[in-house]
Amino acid sequence: MSSDAQPSYGPAYMPADVPGPLARALVERDGRVMAPMGRAYPLVVDHAVGCEVWDVDGHRYLDLSAGVAVLAAGHCHPRLVAVAQAQLARFTHMAGTDFYNEPMIKAAEKLVALMPGGDGWQVFFTNSGTESIEASLKLARYVTGRQNIIGFYGAFHGRSYGSLSLTASKPRQRQGFFPLLPGTFHSYYPNCYRCPINLTHPTCAIACLDLIERTLFSTTTPASEVAAIVVEPIQGEGGYVVPPFGALRKLRALCDRHGIMLICDEVQSGVGRTGKMWAFDHEGIVPDIVASAKGLGGGLPIGAMIARAELARQWESGAHSNTYGGNGLTCAVTHELLCLVEAELMDNAATVGTHLLGRLQALQPRFAQIGAVRGRGLMIGVELIDPASGAPDHDLAQAVMTEAFRKGLLVLTCGASTIRFCPPLILTCEQADEAVGRFALTLEACLAC
Ligand SMILES: Cc1ncc(COP(=O)(O)O)c(C=O)c1O
Repeated sequence: MSSDAQPSYGPAYMPADVPGPLARALVERDGRVMAPMGRAYPLVVDHAVGCEVWDVDGHRYLDLSAGVAVLAAGHCHPRLVAVAQAQLARFTHMAGTDFYNEPMIKAAEKLVALMPGGDGWQVFFTNSGTESIEASLKLARYVTGRQNIIGFYGAFHGRSYGSLSLTASKPRQRQGFFPLLPGTFHSYYPNCYRCPINLTHPTCAIACLDLIERTLFSTTTPASEVAAIVVEPIQGEGGYVVPPFGALRKLRALCDRHGIMLICDEVQSGVGRTGKMWAFDHEGIVPDIVASAKGLGGGLPIGAMIARAELARQWESGAHSNTYGGNGLTCAVTHELLCLVEAELMDNAATVGTHLLGRLQALQPRFAQIGAVRGRGLMIGVELIDPASGAPDHDLAQAVMTEAFRKGLLVLTCGASTIRFCPPLILTCEQADEAVGRFALTLEACLAC
């Protein structure tokens, strides 16, 4: 279907029959052969360009979800398509863990150049976020000789057993899968909107982080047995929670005091999304290990564990490996994507992100149900609440997400009741305005019911 045939965005554009008949038929077929996954809403994609998606019935949507914060350069970016086509015709896969190939080396060189200091790092390519976390946990245990790992309530690190043991954002994700990895512990994430220890900031000095030393280390695990602390610099699935400035520095100092590896999970927040290459760059800290994925492949499945070279080098040959890591196709696209991020996408995320944040904050006086608007760059969350109690309004968030879909806007929820805006990093201010307009219409419609 030609995109030229579609109506352009405008306040009047609201598909009446979403999902349409073709989408409904495919959803039914899907249900017969695909294992249940809990889809957000019945969007069945036909094709997509930039920040726009068309479903199989010809409905057009503005995409503020980017395939769950993946499509850093948007859908079908011409430079990525060209590189992918050229690489497909050259070679696709040659087991990067057994043989050498230039696309893999180039992608790793670019990643290292984009790390703090631009040197002194080594890369292990994976296929996903959860695999990057597994590799990070294994390296931390390997180099420290310690077993225990600390994560945070509200965290999401993936669903394989190691990462799931640290994931703590929804009980459903763990229910039925116990026992998880032994030696995993959780502490409180600095969420100032809902302070986990009921202090008021800004005078708290991020006291919730002190509980790691004051409580965990004096009750459940000696610091000397902790291999790593794993932290999302901005909590993603947990609700797009931005910690107060200084939280990461405080964690870095704590890790240094006890010889603990600091692992930053940048799977969702990294690769330019927050306006800097990595979200930890906002605090100027240097982690020991970084887990990346999502945006890294511009839509192709790739992840990376990036570790300080003196740590990564300690892995003896064969200690850790996989089959698809360093795949020629994904690495060629990743290299091109990283060049785009460095040259323009990161800056655009900062500029358009500030604009979008401001426009969403401007909605707050109109809608008492908007409890908080927070974010960095193009990683923005709008927490919806019951204005009477201030409690998260989960049902409203679900209704808003679904109604937004009917109004031609693709967004997802996260946390208990947050609508997340994680568009492609090519979003323009005009598209941001359009998204906010549709979001306001959506809120009006939901609240009128
Ligand atoms: C912060 C974070 N870490 C890890 C993961 C797991 O990534 P994947 O789904 O690619 O395994 C996710 C996925 O949403 C994530 O947001």
